[in-house]
Amino acid sequence: MGIQITPSILNADLSRLADEVARIPSADWVHVDVMDNHFVPNLTLGLPVIEALGKHASQPLDAHLMIEDPDRWAPAYAEVCGSVTFHAEAAKAPVRLAREIRAQGARASMALKPATPIEPYEALLPELDMVLIMTVEPGFGGQKFLDLCLPKIRTARELMRKHGVETWLQVDGGVSLETIERCAEAGADVFVAGSAVYSADDPDAMVEALRERAEAASA
Ligand code: DX5
Ligand code: ZN
Repeated sequence: MGIQITPSILNADLSRLADEVARIPSADWVHVDVMDNHFVPNLTLGLPVIEALGKHASQPLDAHLMIEDPDRWAPAYAEVCGSVTFHAEAAKAPVRLAREIRAQGARASMALKPATPIEPYEALLPELDMVLIMTVEPGFGGQKFLDLCLPKIRTARELMRKHGVETWLQVDGGVSLETIERCAEAGADVFVAGSAVYSADDPDAMVEALRERAEAASA
């Protein structure tokens, strides 16, 4: 697939979601952060808002579920989103959950917080369409990129090569023109960017600038 950019709407104007998404026609996906005030100390939006946004967005939705009990809730998101990411730290039965997401026709993805290693999940890779390596502690946009996560991106890419799987490798948190090259060099190919895109005067030009920089660094 090459490099993909999936802007997070967390730092967009949440009162005008459809308009905000229309400002980023070059984006490959729209990243939607679902937070429940339990798994993370923040509350955002849920299925009804995502269903409504899905009718207006020209790109597929990339749902990032920062919630407790994704085993119970994620399959419903898979009915309306192109990709559904649950957290490894919250899932009780990640293999069953990934299969349920795929059965709904969505891509199944698993996220790891900064302190969660990838190695214990190596055997799960064939069950997953994407792995999300968090490069901030989940919960808020606009945080500083954690360089300490870069070795895990490298390890994840090596494990994917070892298993011969086509799993996408997403990074989320503090991705900007300044940090995206390090992520791409380490092997990431799907980039979430929230504040970098929505604090730019021209969000779509920023999507293209991020893509160019990642492509140059991964070539
Ligand atoms: C944080 C969210 C991110 C966030 C990224 O928990 O998962 O998707 O919106 O925002 P930035 O790019 O500003 O770090
Ligand atoms: Zn996210």
